[in-house]
Amino acid sequence: MTAWTGLNRIAELKAGETLFVSAASGAVGSVACQLGKLMGATVVASVGSDEKAAHLNALGIDKVINYKTCDDISAALGQAAPQGIDVYFENVGGEHLTAALDNMNDHGRIAVCGMISQYNDTAPTPGPSNLANIIIKKLKIEGFIVFEHWDHYGEYAQQMGQWLATGQVQAEQTIYQGLDNAPSAFIGLFEGKNKGKMVVKLTD
Ligand SMILES: NC(=O)c1ccc[n+]([C@@H]2O[C@H](COP(=O)([O-])OP(=O)(O)OC[C@H]3O[C@@H](n4cnc5c(N)ncnc54)[C@H](OP(=O)(O)O)[C@@H]3O)[C@@H](O)[C@H]2O)c1
Repeated sequence: MTAWTGLNRIAELKAGETLFVSAASGAVGSVACQLGKLMGATVVASVGSDEKAAHLNALGIDKVINYKTCDDISAALGQAAPQGIDVYFENVGGEHLTAALDNMNDHGRIAVCGMISQYNDTAPTPGPSNLANIIIKKLKIEGFIVFEHWDHYGEYAQQMGQWLATGQVQAEQTIYQGLDNAPSAFIGLFEGKNKGKMVVKLTD
């Protein structure tokens, strides 16, 4: 529902636009990518491994960047989306936000869902140096928390239920077995160990 909320209610993604999704093979990101395609957008994604990139390509995502192997995320994004970005679904922050601001089109929208690259910071990190693009490109940037949108759960569940039933959306899980593995599962989120939702299964 987080992906659905960000694209529909916050960024108001439209058919024909270009969507950029970071942390794109995670629980939220992988659904945001697939919903973007269903909504008629060109979808550009960023992930941390070639295996994850191949998986998203197989799901029909148009272009996928491996941010760990490209020299410059902004340049890679410019090559992947020479037409520019209309909507950025932000899961990461830091260099990804800087790259998006460089490549946004006029009147673009950024739905700020998460900033996982900064959750473990031990000191304040400087913001992007290119924030002036917000003015120059007339951007809208809006953060959101899914819990404030529960009154739309029925609408979401009806749409997503159909997409899941028909296989138009695939919701993956990475499962760690047993409570003892909960710390490894949690730390694994910051190391890119998951594809889809990271789940700790308590019983067989
Ligand atoms: N606003 C809301 O209501 C709401 C609700 C749920 C989640 N969230 C936020 O949305 C984001 C995604 O959540 P999720 O549950 O779907 O997590 P997730 O994407 O399944 O897991 C984290 C993924 O982020 C990537 N990552 C970790 N550290 C990174 C870094 N320093 N730079 C770039 N990528 C990094 C890793 O993939 P790679 O291998 O690709 O690096 C990892 O697999 C998180 O920031 C979360 O806090 C917000």
